[in-house]
Amino acid sequence: MKIAHVIGARPNFMKAAPVVRALLPLVVQRLIHTGQHYDRAMSEVFFTELGLPTPDVNLGVGSGSHAAQTAQVMLQFERSLIAERPDWIIVYGDVNSTLAAALVGSKLGIPVAHVEAGLRSYDRTMPEEVNRVLTDQVAELLFTSEEQGAPNLRREGVADAKIHFVGNVMIDTLVRLLPEAERRPLPLPLGHVPFVLVTLHRAGNVDHRDTLTEIVAALGQLAGDELEIVFPIHPRTRARLVDWQLLQELSCCRIAEPLGYLDFLALQMRAALVLTDSGGVQEETAYLGVPCLTLRPNTERPATIVYGRNRLIPGERQAIVAGVKRVLDDSIAAKPPSIPLWDGHAAERIAAVFARLAA
Ligand code: UD1
Ligand code: UDP
Repeated sequence: MKIAHVIGARPNFMKAAPVVRALLPLVVQRLIHTGQHYDRAMSEVFFTELGLPTPDVNLGVGSGSHAAQTAQVMLQFERSLIAERPDWIIVYGDVNSTLAAALVGSKLGIPVAHVEAGLRSYDRTMPEEVNRVLTDQVAELLFTSEEQGAPNLRREGVADAKIHFVGNVMIDTLVRLLPEAERRPLPLPLGHVPFVLVTLHRAGNVDHRDTLTEIVAALGQLAGDELEIVFPIHPRTRARLVDWQLLQELSCCRIAEPLGYLDFLALQMRAALVLTDSGGVQEETAYLGVPCLTLRPNTERPATIVYGRNRLIPGERQAIVAGVKRVLDDSIAAKPPSIPLWDGHAAERIAAVFARLAA
């Protein structure tokens, strides 16, 4: 059996790494990088850290509007698929590369497996929600990461036989690399006060000048002698901060380029609190038992709230400042929760499904 994995953006790499590893003894694998993310700090750095092989192909698609980026992946990936004819395609998560590859595979009659199927925010203004719903419609195998996945998919008419609740592959990577992150010194010279770790990149936050201005004002108000704000900045966000002359407002924060996985994990596990709009970071903090405030009106990852210490918060200065202070005041050391099938073995369960198909 020959399997082509399609990856393209930062969160895909953490998800694909354990699946590639688990399938190694079973099948022939090809790794196709779409090139959606291309900066060294958004792509290359993760291959060494996560032990991912160098991609066999890089489609070099780069940035663009949704239509341009999706269409470019489709055109380039179709060519590569016709040349390769794998038996299965595996796509990850909810980025434009995920949907583009799934559409191409299904039209060529090559079955698609979707890792992280069934997550729903029920908010179609999010490009990721459109990508999730459509990818799940054309997938033949749907690997869900949390309990809510299967009921969400059944509601959309997906046959039960296609759905496999395997758990969270992003947590497989975390479980494997946590001991290394624990030994690692912090990537920034931080003082001896608690710190809040911030990540931001969601269009709903960073592409709206008013919202981004409110968030930046909140960070400026919180940073001080008793609390540090550590903010590795995603390139999309940096571009908006520069456009709207907001970068200088962050001079009181410890801003940085996007960090490698181990450096970021070393910070996450020691943060007093994480403020984010990332999907993966909501999951990682939930697993670690670190308090997380998610700057969004909804989440497609309810397990992070049910089991973890994730809470939703609006992108408004007062709400953010009050929310952070509340968490810091209440902070009691809590034992990390146990989340169903977030146990470091999700990729092995995926491999077991393919082993049955290949037999
Ligand atoms: C994408 C995903 C989002 C995911 C995020 C993870 C879609 C629709 N969005 O958002 O779901 O959460 O990745 O990080 O697929 N840029 C660079 N260098 C890079 C990559 C991007 O400078 O290596 C800049 C470019 O200005 C680009 C912008 O960031 O236009 C946005 O990149 P894009 O891949 O379109 O979306 P993300 O915001 O990264
Ligand atoms: N991450 C990282 N460096 C950073 C910020 C995040 O390695 O500076 C990791 C994070 O630990 C998680 C993944 O990137 O594993 C999440 O990706 P991102 O937030 O870009 O995308 P999302 O999960 O929102 O789709």
